[in-house]
Parts: sequence; C-alpha cells; structure tokens
Amino acid sequence: MKIGLLGCGTVGSALVQLLDADGDRLGSLLGEPLELGRILVRDLHKVRAHEVPMKLLTTELAEVIEDPEIELVVELLGPGEFALSAIESALASHKSVVTANKEILSTHFRELESAAAKVNRDIFFEAAVAGGIPLIRALRVSLFGERLTRIVGIVNGTTNYILTQMQEEHVSLETALGDAQRLGYAEADPHGDLSGRDAASKLAIIASIAFGSHVDVADVQVDGIWGVTPADFDFARRSGGVIKLLAQAERSLDSPDAPVRVEVFPAIVMSDHPLASVRGSFNAVFVEGSAVGQLMFSGPGAGGLPTASAVLADIIDAVTNLRNATRAPMRVAQGTRFVDDSSIE
Ligand code: NDP
Ligand code: HSE
Repeated sequence: MKIGLLGCGTVGSALVQLLDADGDRLGSLLGEPLELGRILVRDLHKVRAHEVPMKLLTTELAEVIEDPEIELVVELLGPGEFALSAIESALASHKSVVTANKEILSTHFRELESAAAKVNRDIFFEAAVAGGIPLIRALRVSLFGERLTRIVGIVNGTTNYILTQMQEEHVSLETALGDAQRLGYAEADPHGDLSGRDAASKLAIIASIAFGSHVDVADVQVDGIWGVTPADFDFARRSGGVIKLLAQAERSLDSPDAPVRVEVFPAIVMSDHPLASVRGSFNAVFVEGSAVGQLMFSGPGAGGLPTASAVLADIIDAVTNLRNATRAPMRVAQGTRFVDDSSIE
C-alpha cells in the first residue's frame, strides 16, 4: 500500500516517525506493508522534526496525485484553497483520503463525502477533531443508535493550554501562545485558535455527525479568548471556578425541526466540574444521549504524535476498506438518524 503524504510539518513529521517506528508491525497485521510513496512540501531543504528521505520529497502536487501506485492520500497541509483542491483531485483520481483539516471539513463536509461516495472511496477525518481522542469514530459508529441531545466540551488545545498557563502560572497570553506554538499545538496562523474559529470548525463537524444534520461553521456563534482579562481570572477564582473556552451544541428532541444551537464561548467552570480539571493541551467532550446518559471523552487534543495517532487509525481503516472493496458506512451523512423522528417522545 503506497501512501501519498501532503504536508510534513508538526503532524506530518510525527506520522512519518510513527510509520518508521511501527510500519512493519502494522504492515504484518494488515497483510501488506504500509509505504510512503511521495511527500509534498513547500520547502525541500527545511530541517524537519523527523528525518525524511530526500528522494520522497516533492513540491509538485501532481507527482502525488498522478502516481498510479498511490492509493491513499493523507492531507496535512492546513487551511486554504490549495488543500481543498488537493483533496478534491485525490478523490477524483480514485484515491481514498485521510485528512486532519477541520477548516475545510467544517465548510465542505457534504461535498467531499459525496465526492468520495461517487468514486467508491473513503474520506476519513478522526484527527480533525480533538486530536488523539477517538471521538469521531465513537459518534459515527458506537453512538449511531443513540438520540444525542447535547455535546459540550473543550476542543481547542492551544487556548486550553494558554488559559491554564495564565491562570496557574500567571504568564502573559503572548508568552503562553509562544510556548503553545513551540510545542506544536497552535495552527500555522494562531488567530483561528484564539478567536474561537478553530473550536467552531470542530463543533460544526461534531454537531453534523452527532445530530445527522448539516451544521456549517457559519452557524456557530463564536467568542474567543482575546477579551479575557486578568480581572476575569480573579473573578472566576473568587467564584470558585476557572475560565475555559467551551464549545456547545444542543438540539431539542421535542422540536426536531428546530435548528441545532451551536456556540463557542469563554465561561467560568466551577472547580468541582470535571471540565475544570482538563489542563494544558488536553481536550474533553461530554456527550449526552437519551439512553446512554452522559459520556465524557478526554485526552491529548493537539500536538504531533497524538494527532498522528488518529491519522494512523484512519489510514488503517482506509487500507482495510480499499482491500475489502468497501467503504465507511454513509448512514450519518445521509441523515437517516432523523427518519423516524416523528416517533420521538
Ligand atoms: P504545519 O504548518 O506544521 O505543516 C504544514 C505542512 O504543509 C508543512 O510541511 C508545509 O510544507 C506543507 N504545506 C503547506 N502549504 C503547502 C503548499 N502550498 N504546498 C506544499 N506544501 C505545503 O501544520 P500542522 O502539521 O500543525 O497541521 C497540519 C493539519 O493538521 C492542519 O490542517 C491542522 O489544522 C491539522 N491539525 C493539527 C494539529 C496540531 O496539533 N498541530 C492537531 C489536529 C489537526 P513546509 O514544511 O515545506 O513548509
Ligand atoms: N490548533 C489546534 C488546537 C490543533 O490547538 O486544538 C488541534 O486541532
């Protein structure tokens, strides 16, 4: 199985590291070796976090997309039109796609899923939401039969790291942001982290899957952490809580046609609430279902290796599907969750 990798930055380099360390074991479990065919980058001579054979690097997208031996393309480029058209070209060339690109998925989820369906290929995106936490699989597969009503959590590692550092270590936002960038948590342009836009993109993806309806990032009411002041931290502490950037999606089972409510906002979380103890770059997401009750998923929400672990899980599923000539179930994207909504009490 030859894989084309688009992007070899924080997450891409970590993926190369994982494949170098564990590719043989995974290959024998899958029955065929996993091999990197080509790696697209901007700068061929950049020093990378993990060494990459020079002969694999290219600056030409076509050398990846048009390589007939590459059956799977992993997109780890970052936001923008170039990444979108790279994913579209890969699917049009009958390659399955794994991506961590929440920015693109939060606006083009439906088109990309239907482009994949048209050519009988997969598009997987576990790493786009909550880093290393297997949340998308849980929502798509394990919780498919549930009537989910509410999702609330911390889905941006950079802002959670910054808020933790500011409240516990009393460092400035600028210093904490610099550390988050150095540790590989922040986006190439961290404005999206701080403004809440990154969390909003993830929330749109989560809500679309959890509620079986299309939620666009533009539907999300967003407030980031720019406006949070030391006085707010003092007030939160005196009130017995901490400030967290929360993402929340709710729908009413009583009025299935009512729009899903989606918002990202800084809030005081009381110290005895489990979300208050989610520190650093960790994420945590509560999911409420009518039968299962409340579940909490938590773990590393950003950073190279945790995110690459989620990418690797998608690669394994995509390879398995390619070999079995099957695809991921499309049931959620088709909105079948709502078919019998009239029977909801
Ligand atoms: P980086 O900025 O570290 O890496 C981006 C890579 O893409 C670089 O290797 C860069 O090449 C390459 N690239 C960008 N634009 C082009 C282009 N036009 N042509 C060729 N190569 C290009 O990003 P990350 O690894 O941090 O993130 C990758 C994706 O994963 C993003 O979508 C991000 O949102 C997502 N993500 C990131 C997480 C994290 O913790 N960092 C967690 C979850 C998701 P070069 O190296 O030569 O500059
Ligand atoms: N910049 C993102 C974050 C990366 O801090 O959560 C993980 O999606």
